[in-house]
Amino acid sequence: MELLRVAVFLGLCLGACCCQAVVLSDSAGLGRGFDGIGGLSGGGATSRLLVNYAEPYRSQILDFLFKPNFGASLHILKVEIGGDAQTTDGTEPSHMHYENDENYFRGYEWWLMREAKKRNPNITLIGLPWAFPGWVGHGKSWPYDFPDITAAYVVKWILGAKQYHDLDIHYVGIWNERNFDSKYIKVLRNALDKVGLTGVGIIAADGDWSIADSLNADPHLSECVEVVGAHYPGTTTVKEALQTQKKLWSSEDYSSVNDEVGGGCWARILNQNYVNGFMTATISWNLVSSYYEDLPFGRDGLMTAEEPWSGHYEVAPPIWITGNPPFSEAPNFADQTGVFEYYLNLTDPGAHSFTLRQVLTERPITWAADADQTISVIGDHQWQNVTVSCDVFMESVKTGGVFIAARVDKGGQCVRSAQGVFFWVFADGTYKVTNDLAGQTVLANGQSGTRAYGWHTLTLTVEGQYASGLLNGYPLWKNAVVLAPPNGWAALGTHSFELAQFDNFAVLAE
Ligand SMILES: *[C@@H]1O[C@H](CO)[C@@H](O)[C@H](O)[C@H]1NC(C)=O
Ligand SMILES: *[C@@H]1O[C@H](CO)[C@@H](O)[C@H](O)[C@H]1NC(C)=O
Ligand SMILES: *[C@@H]1O[C@H](CO)[C@@H](O)[C@H](O)[C@H]1NC(C)=O
Repeated sequence: MELLRVAVFLGLCLGACCCQAVVLSDSAGLGRGFDGIGGLSGGGATSRLLVNYAEPYRSQILDFLFKPNFGASLHILKVEIGGDAQTTDGTEPSHMHYENDENYFRGYEWWLMREAKKRNPNITLIGLPWAFPGWVGHGKSWPYDFPDITAAYVVKWILGAKQYHDLDIHYVGIWNERNFDSKYIKVLRNALDKVGLTGVGIIAADGDWSIADSLNADPHLSECVEVVGAHYPGTTTVKEALQTQKKLWSSEDYSSVNDEVGGGCWARILNQNYVNGFMTATISWNLVSSYYEDLPFGRDGLMTAEEPWSGHYEVAPPIWITGNPPFSEAPNFADQTGVFEYYLNLTDPGAHSFTLRQVLTERPITWAADADQTISVIGDHQWQNVTVSCDVFMESVKTGGVFIAARVDKGGQCVRSAQGVFFWVFADGTYKVTNDLAGQTVLANGQSGTRAYGWHTLTLTVEGQYASGLLNGYPLWKNAVVLAPPNGWAALGTHSFELAQFDNFAVLAE
């Protein structure tokens, strides 16, 4: 998912996502087989809160997603190959921040893939980049000028999955909802083959169907691609895609709020993608709504797990739609038209409503290790009177600043226009208090004595219309007047991806 898709998608869903029955006819589909139903983690940071659930709740959620014959019993898990960039609801870290950097333990997608495979050893695993670190394009946000570098970067991710996590990646994509490049696809195929990854199929191009023309015109390109993957295809395909004779997949779909209406929408998509659209796999954006609900596309997952501090999660209707036993048990079920009829019966609103509530007493917020990204929002969007405190360490004399913040009103792909109270310190010995992340409105500034390579404790208190800040326990500024926003999250971050460490993060909120 990403911002550009919104208009297209809403048009599609409002117009078409109703629960009417369709006339069932699968004569065209006989013999096509079925490649499965999947969930997409990422694009971006959609599973972020899941990883912080305490046991046994975390395992229960994973069971509802992946355990065969249990909940959704998913056949496919697709994940973002993190690229150090904001990709919808947050940022996922790259396995190579720099050219000489390699680390296959960042983020949570490795862990998620391991957990999925533990439950279903046959699960199909897919990786797709949304963004690439700047060095891949030699400083440009364009990954095709140096196709060998981009291919090597992607191949390393696949090799790392095997070497460090014993995960076999079955398919890899090109660049989510962006241009494809025929030369890059050929270079990637070659790079995979050269290291023995001949079994890893390329999905192209995770956007519209337009790559079909290129595949039909270029037999060599066609040989390089195993699956034509389209996003939000509206349950139909185009004749050029059929002419490729490739497997056709809806490699990203759904994106609806996971209530009964969304469940009906998902059922309809699953049926009609196969029946009308000749697509043999459909992948939900997203897998699990494990990001704050006020971020873009809140609750657009198969289920919701967005409160690690309470342990509460909700097994939403799409889980049961996905895991309808005939669907999950028989890999070639789809050639039996009766299954579709049974399946469609579940789309009757009110026929299903499953909510599992697990409420615990509130625990302190935990903080995990992805703080080298621009901004992380934390806590509850309703917070009004808040004290945020954190130890910060700037790792560069050039640093453009490190901040803690309160009453932050936006996150995810909207974060650049976020308002709140941002308390910044800089390596040149100054501080600034701004009313917006972009720093347009300055509430206070002055000397702080802060420097790089030393720890500083920042404390920010916002109460009613007044904010004040402490540095290392001593008052630095006070009574800055904050008229808006009236509530929001706590947050912390750095200016434009510069490195910093954060420790002892604490929030006291009313
Ligand atoms: C995985 O696939 C193999 C071969 O098709 C099958 O024998 C096995 O039962 C499957 N395992 C699970 C957990 O589905
Ligand atoms: C679906 O529902 C209709 C109407 O209630 C019923 O006649 C039909 O038998 C159902 N189909 C299946 C496969 O359960
Ligand atoms: C926040 O503080 C203000 C000023 O002290 C007070 O009027 C308001 O009720 C407080 N809000 C909450 C939610 O406690």
